[in-house]
Amino acid sequence: MTTGLSFEGWMKAIQAEMESALLRYLPPAAQAPARLHEAMQYAVLDGGKRVRPLLVHAAGALFDADAVELARAAAAIEMIHAYSLVHDDMPCMDDDALRRGKPTVHVKYDEACALLVGDALQAQAFEVLAQGGLEPARQLAMVRLLARASGSLGMCGGQAIDLASVGLSLSLAELEQMHQLKTGALLRASVLLGALAGKSLSEQEMTALDAYALAVGLAFQVVDDVLDATADSATLGKTAGKDAADNKPTYVSILGLQQSQALAEKLRTDAHRALEQFGDKARRLRELADLIVQRKA
Ligand code: IPE
Ligand code: IPE
Ligand code: MG
Ligand code: MG
Ligand code: MG
Repeated sequence: MTTGLSFEGWMKAIQAEMESALLRYLPPAAQAPARLHEAMQYAVLDGGKRVRPLLVHAAGALFDADAVELARAAAAIEMIHAYSLVHDDMPCMDDDALRRGKPTVHVKYDEACALLVGDALQAQAFEVLAQGGLEPARQLAMVRLLARASGSLGMCGGQAIDLASVGLSLSLAELEQMHQLKTGALLRASVLLGALAGKSLSEQEMTALDAYALAVGLAFQVVDDVLDATADSATLGKTAGKDAADNKPTYVSILGLQQSQALAEKLRTDAHRALEQFGDKARRLRELADLIVQRKA
């Protein structure tokens, strides 16, 4: 249905579809406890680039995955991502007041509410994914994959390393490990969930998709670090210059701007190379690798 569209048109179509899928999969704002449900919607709807859902759909296109199952997996991962942002912005973590061009959840509501929004979004994500209609073994593999990517061996682990690294000078290997966990893990899960919604993967397909996902996952956070240092808050919709202000080790602080940009370019080439075996079916994944490296916000 969306194969004939330009990349821009395809993105817009997925983003619009995602907005309605997310609304459908979240509890109604009027349902009690209404303030919590309203805050969950505030955190998830109307904002964000939806890069993870785009990756889910692009990977699903490799194996002609069912659109409803893709929307479900994409909504689940975007809920986990939104929860991670709500907690990332809290005073005990990055203490940020601006997210997606709006006041952060703890500023707009309060800290306890922000904590619960994150908790509830995480639970909601797993409920949504577990309700999928695929054969049980594959659906269960998807639930486990998302759990692993979200927990202490994935995003949460990366966030723990990030917080423990303030003021330290990490080696490149340590920095890469932190980025692969805090950001790469959910991006990798997006690619694999999309592909798994289509079929069980052969070892060779898994290896290729993993190589793609590792490259774009790392590239995404390298570019996030670059933009933190080079873009303004209005463009980013979040506070610019925050990493340096907080003394966080980043690719920019360790490699400098030019080398960070060069690394992102190299990762884009790696990502493209990993997709060779998939031919034209991987067109959207290629375009997304380009977007992830060339984005300005
Ligand atoms: C921001 O993620 C946090 C990182 C993991 C770098 P995004 O840049 O995907 O944020 P949204 O979803 O577009 O707001
Ligand atoms: C956050 O990394 C990654 C997660 C939320 C898991 P950052 O702290 O760099 O993200 P931004 O820059 O606030 O979006
Ligand atoms: Mg952070
Ligand atoms: Mg942050
Ligand atoms: Mg950042």
